Amino acid sequence: MNILELIQKRYTAKHYQSDKAIPQQKIEDLKEILRLTPSSINIQPWKFTFVQNPEMKSKLAAVSMHNTEKINQAQLLVVFSVADDLDAFQKVVENELPAARRDWYNKIKASTPEAELKTWLAKQVYIALGVGLTASIALGLDSTAMEGIESDKYGDILGMTEYKPLFAMAVGYGAEDDFNRIEVTPKSRRSLENVIETI
Ligand SMILES: Cc1cc2nc3c(=O)[nH]c(=O)nc-3n(C[C@H](O)[C@H](O)[C@H](O)COP(=O)(O)O)c2cc1C
Repeated sequence: MNILELIQKRYTAKHYQSDKAIPQQKIEDLKEILRLTPSSINIQPWKFTFVQNPEMKSKLAAVSMHNTEKINQAQLLVVFSVADDLDAFQKVVENELPAARRDWYNKIKASTPEAELKTWLAKQVYIALGVGLTASIALGLDSTAMEGIESDKYGDILGMTEYKPLFAMAVGYGAEDDFNRIEVTPKSRRSLENVIETI
């Protein structure tokens, strides 16, 4: 299947087959794919938490608004978090990024109000969600992007202090009778003419 066909086929899974395991190699591939996500000035202000442990997944499911059932059914939950403690993140920048990137970040940081800087960092994490959704279907897996999570409670459950959960992605095999399957619910999008401009 080519990339267009994959994207046409991808849909937001609303029900999963809870008993069909994901081959571990696919999960390891997804980890590496998320690590390779591009970001502005290569700042990489993220943490991707892969939750396969059923008890931990169920705790998170309980604080996930209308997404509880999906998370309990899906075999994998990936939590996407952004650097929130900027002093702690400064150490990451100093220790893990090349000098040119570090200097660039320090310049941006010096001239940007903290709230704006945090918004900019969070935007980078959304790029990883796009990569993750596309990678999932390419790996033959279904997925659900979920902003419907209680961020503070996720942070408490995961014991996060330096990062803040922003959203999550359930991954697994969609249920055969999922009403949201592409064969049942066709893609709904604005028309090409209205969203694409060619000059
Ligand atoms: C950032 C983001 C957050 C979303 N949050 C949720 C969510 O909490 N629960 C859910 O069932 N779907 C969620 N969705 C799925 C969207 O509703 C869905 O992508 C959109 O309706 C298009 O449908 P499709 O993905 O099936 O093509 C989210 C999607 C994105 C990109």
